[in-house]
Amino acid sequence: MHLLRIADLTKEEIDGLLERASALKERHKKGIPHNPLRGKTLGLIFEKSSTRTRVSFETAMYHLGGDAIFISGKDSQIGRGEPIKDTARVMSRYVDAIVIRTFGHEIIEEYARYSSVPVINGLTDTHHPCQVLADVMTVIEKKGRYDNLKYAWIGDGNNMANSWIEAASVLGFSLTLACPEGYRPPKEFLDKAGSSGSGIIVTESVEEAARDADVLNTDVWASMGQEEESEKRKKAFRGFQINKELLKLAKKDAMVLHCLPAHRGEEITEEVLEGPHSAVWDEAENRLHIQKAILEKLLVEGSK
Ligand code: CP
Ligand code: NVA
Repeated sequence: MHLLRIADLTKEEIDGLLERASALKERHKKGIPHNPLRGKTLGLIFEKSSTRTRVSFETAMYHLGGDAIFISGKDSQIGRGEPIKDTARVMSRYVDAIVIRTFGHEIIEEYARYSSVPVINGLTDTHHPCQVLADVMTVIEKKGRYDNLKYAWIGDGNNMANSWIEAASVLGFSLTLACPEGYRPPKEFLDKAGSSGSGIIVTESVEEAARDADVLNTDVWASMGQEEESEKRKKAFRGFQINKELLKLAKKDAMVLHCLPAHRGEEITEEVLEGPHSAVWDEAENRLHIQKAILEKLLVEGSK
């Protein structure tokens, strides 16, 4: 089994991962060792920068008793043009699972087709499933549930937004996205989610999205690989910011998420990011715990 996008999972599988992650978190806090992955090796091939995804996966693997090997795309033969299908077959002979961070989603799909070990998406241009699972885990910790809440996405219709749309669709909650014209999530994701019956609303009004929201979420205006569009995007996204005024429209106890890294003063203000509504540090920590649940599912359950 691979985990390339949220839609690869059923609601039951996601609920199982969320429950397991929280149990593993508790166990870790109590200092109880848990080493089901002794003798297993995780490979990580990253063609884009990372702090959280890399370190949380590597640490998760060590905590579970296994090992991790990090390969940056540019230092490997991939950077010199070795075909994905060759790399996938060779890596499958060495490691027990692999996390890939790359550009086009078709690259990880091709990799998965040729890999005989589980492939995990550590971010592509169109999906970031592990981050969104950590986000939902954080929502449950703060709100006690993930359903019957108003979710607002403010900003770019990017990889994070797409994975949130898929989460809303699989888990059956509604989501309002405020995106500037030209930066809405791709129609294919919206149509698919719409047909599943979950309420996905896309608007240009940040106020409409934020009003009475329980959860406000945002991400950078220019993602990795879009650096050249940075100035153009700064203009297009002006106003698509989570700030004190916007937060006033949300519920009193609203929580704010951001997958990080954040650009203070652009998509979120310093005041909100560092303020009492912000759950971003727990959100970042939860990457570790959800990653453990994912690794266990793919490497222990998957081998039975
Ligand atoms: N949120 C996230 O994926 O962070 P990194 O880019 O640091 O891995
Ligand atoms: N949307 C951002 C997320 C970074 C974790 C990017 O792709 O760069």
